[in-house]
Amino acid sequence: MIIDPSQLSLPQNSQLVTGSVVPRPIAWVSTIAPDGSYNLAPFSYFMAIGADPPQLAFSVNWRVRANSKKDTLSNIEASGELVINVATEATAEKMNHTSGEWGPEVDEFSAVGLTPLPSVKVKAPRVAESPVNIECRLNQIVRLGSEKAPAHLIIVEAVLWHVRDDLLTPQNTIDVKKLHAIGRLSYNYYTRTNELFEMVRPQV
Ligand SMILES: Cc1cc2nc3c(=O)[nH]c(=O)nc-3n(C[C@H](O)[C@H](O)[C@H](O)COP(=O)(O)O)c2cc1C
Repeated sequence: MIIDPSQLSLPQNSQLVTGSVVPRPIAWVSTIAPDGSYNLAPFSYFMAIGADPPQLAFSVNWRVRANSKKDTLSNIEASGELVINVATEATAEKMNHTSGEWGPEVDEFSAVGLTPLPSVKVKAPRVAESPVNIECRLNQIVRLGSEKAPAHLIIVEAVLWHVRDDLLTPQNTIDVKKLHAIGRLSYNYYTRTNELFEMVRPQV
């Protein structure tokens, strides 16, 4: 079957995207608003860009029903800072809970019972319950798509990592076997990362 996205509705195209780009890692993004209140929400349109220096990106879509920007985007536009917390099996339920479409006055840390910890290089708090927190500074925001429901690609530089000690290998790398990160699929499906296999790249 051939599917032409120009013939589909926005929800149908969302399903095409989220059903084809799988599994997606989850950036659990904490930010601070100009009035000092905390915000936390998950974003699975998330990718690594490069390592020199470390750069990451995620995309904040338009809140179509309310026809408004999401709080994460407003806070990053105002502060230029954020923390990306890695979502794991242990925090899956709470991560999902923080995706509730609450207004800017709601601090998702208190709403779902998570502990904000101070960051070192940025003002945004980090999630104590997440084993990896990445402090980031904004590089640029690229507005893409339609006027009615634009996506905002947020490109950041990662400036400081906090990694729980027990996750570190003797070489000081992150042991993904212990991390138990989760990934997003489509609809309400997620995947675990506990069934691994290895492949060595060809030496040519
Ligand atoms: C696992 C998961 C992944 C999500 N990924 C995205 C995403 O990549 N982009 C997006 O705009 N919304 C995404 N959402 C929805 C946002 O988390 C949701 O709109 C949230 O209310 C935004 O919060 P904010 O207004 O505090 O920024 C996702 C939700 C879940 C549960």
